[in-house]
Amino acid sequence: MRVLVTGGAGFIGSQVAAELAAAGHEAVVFDALLPAAHPGGHRSQEARTVVADLRDAERVRAALAGIDAVCHQAAMVGLGKEFADAPAYVGCNDLGTAVLLAEMAAAGVWDLVVAGSMVVYGEGRYDCARHGTVRPGPRAAADLEAGRFEPPCPECGAPLRPGLVAEDAPTDPRNVYAATKLAQEHLASAWSRATGGRAVALRYHNVYGPGMPRDTPYAGVASFFRSALARGEAPRVYEDGAQRRDFVHVRDVASANTVALAALAGREPGFFAAYNTGSGEPHTIGEMAAALAAAHGGPAPVVTGEYRLGDVRHVTADSRRLRDELGWKPQVGFAEGMAEFAAAPLRPGAGSGPVPGSG
Ligand SMILES: NC(=O)c1ccc[n+]([C@@H]2O[C@H](COP(=O)([O-])OP(=O)(O)OC[C@H]3O[C@@H](n4cnc5c(N)ncnc54)[C@H](O)[C@@H]3O)[C@@H](O)[C@H]2O)c1
Ligand SMILES: [Zn+2]
Repeated sequence: MRVLVTGGAGFIGSQVAAELAAAGHEAVVFDALLPAAHPGGHRSQEARTVVADLRDAERVRAALAGIDAVCHQAAMVGLGKEFADAPAYVGCNDLGTAVLLAEMAAAGVWDLVVAGSMVVYGEGRYDCARHGTVRPGPRAAADLEAGRFEPPCPECGAPLRPGLVAEDAPTDPRNVYAATKLAQEHLASAWSRATGGRAVALRYHNVYGPGMPRDTPYAGVASFFRSALARGEAPRVYEDGAQRRDFVHVRDVASANTVALAALAGREPGFFAAYNTGSGEPHTIGEMAAALAAAHGGPAPVVTGEYRLGDVRHVTADSRRLRDELGWKPQVGFAEGMAEFAAAPLRPGAGSGPVPGSG
């Protein structure tokens, strides 16, 4: 199979391309090499790389010639710096996806795996002893300032028990990036319905592993901690460190892509489904920082009590559906993966790059 991997020069996309090649497929990388993601002028590792933006329909059309399926990983990621980044996020992620889908239909390419994200859920799942499953709203600045990090039951104010989010949980994107990730799924779903294409969205959890970009406003928390350790500093853990996440290794995410691609072939035209893609082994941010620091041999994490408005407290996925329906099985355990990540190089040449679209 010849697969176009958009964003294939990025952290996850490059692993997807490598995994496809290892499985005997041909990967063609399509990547704009955004300065925010590649501040050091990073190059793609794949032999066949098209350096172009997805919003450039002609370049997309040319790249789709002879392609059997698309793994769509390209996106502007992270929280960004300010709301002024919104047009750049929407342009890259949603206009880019729309152009890709229109050109796929025109070229008769019908199989698509799109990189989704857990951010579409907002807060995770919570249960109240009296009210069952409830949906706490955004946390108030005054509560966070006072160190009240756990969202209370919106009905009675009682403490809640965090649980695992399933794919049918209501979506609640809480920032621009999250809104663009949800829109990508909606576009893919609309595309499959309108054209008879087949699409799967993989809602990745917190992906980590070798090749992760260094700390920029676009990076994930594991990269912040890993970068601090590389500088000989203690990881600074926000809130009280008890925020729960699911850290899934980048090689397992890559294998989810190949498994999903293979499964698409057997689906009916018009098929669309979203699958949570997590390790199934939730950990707290504090545990992750401690595991990294210990493996790196660096200073122990410092819990600072700082917070970022808009961060969610707990979100951990139930990835059973991906395991049961597609037979995916993550291979890299938490301790093993963090030990490897502590020693692995981050993506070279990082630093805070310019915001795409602003310069
Ligand atoms: N890293 C995570 O923890 C995580 C979690 C959930 C979802 N995701 C999703 O996984 C995908 C890959 O993320 P990543 O962590 O590898 O980020 P990354 O920044 O390393 O890679 C994204 C790549 O996409 C390219 N790109 C962005 N916009 C483009 C455009 N319009 N045209 C062409 N190329 C473009 C960038 O140059 C970059 O190489 C994204 O869709 C992201 O939303 C990542
Ligand atoms: Zn209650």
